Amino acid sequence: MAVILDGKKIASDIKAELKESIRKLKSEGKTVPGLVAILVGDNPASKVYVSSKSKDCEEIGIKSKVESLPEDTTEDELLNLIRKYNNDPEYHGILVQLPLPGHIDENRVIETIVPSKDVDGFHPQNVGNLVIGKDTFYPCTPYGIVEILKRYDIETSGKHVVVVGRSNIVGKPVANMMLQKKEGANSIVTVCHSAAKDLSRFTKEADILIAAIGRPKFIKASMVKEGAVVIDVGINRIEDKTTKSGYRLVGDVDYEEVFEKASYITPVPGGVGLMTRAMLLRNTFEAYQKIMG
Ligand code: GUN
Repeated sequence: MAVILDGKKIASDIKAELKESIRKLKSEGKTVPGLVAILVGDNPASKVYVSSKSKDCEEIGIKSKVESLPEDTTEDELLNLIRKYNNDPEYHGILVQLPLPGHIDENRVIETIVPSKDVDGFHPQNVGNLVIGKDTFYPCTPYGIVEILKRYDIETSGKHVVVVGRSNIVGKPVANMMLQKKEGANSIVTVCHSAAKDLSRFTKEADILIAAIGRPKFIKASMVKEGAVVIDVGINRIEDKTTKSGYRLVGDVDYEEVFEKASYITPVPGGVGLMTRAMLLRNTFEAYQKIMG
């Protein structure tokens, strides 16, 4: 039976720490950190994410603004709005919610955000700095995963981390963070993905298994080594007629099965998702500190 890695508790601790730091700034008469979140179109999941992020900011004293733009916003209009916030001293973090409508080039958008305000850590300059171990913004989900491992004192040095999934938002950056030696996890890292003929060949080798696949309950107990640490990044909606909403959230890991075999496991909900939200707040605070000196 596994120890449950309580993302809800850690996220709430991090928020309390940040709230206290911001209270101090205010009491010294200083300006507070500011975050602008830009949403294009009507993607229902994105709307929920953006409003949660804005609510989190309010809760701890970060000034926040949501820019909701219509689906037919042109790329130029969006780029010009980003440029405006690049030069606005009241906002230290800029977040453009992904995915964007198909007619907008996501890479151009990310590259237009000034790297010093890129609190998602998606700008190629920040990605490059992460890879070479220089000061950067860590993407929020990987940052949250590393923070959970730290706060539970889970040994990472020399351990074999297996990441399933190769997205730019989770798989690639978390692999790089776990690999990092200087102030890093110092792990041995394998990244695998859906092209593997037999994924379990890789996952069974993991001391620490990070599942970021986007397929409900994909990781079964038979794919996990006895005593492994299991980090579940998935947030999948599955139909459940017994609930009020008609659906419930499950991870990429078959929790009931894997719980019996792992030494530590993150639940869904209540694990990595809440940490992602908390680390965005920390990144916004860090952006503020870097800009304000
Ligand atoms: N879409 C899914 N995850 C994220 C994230 O972490 N940041 C942004 N901006 N968009 C996302």
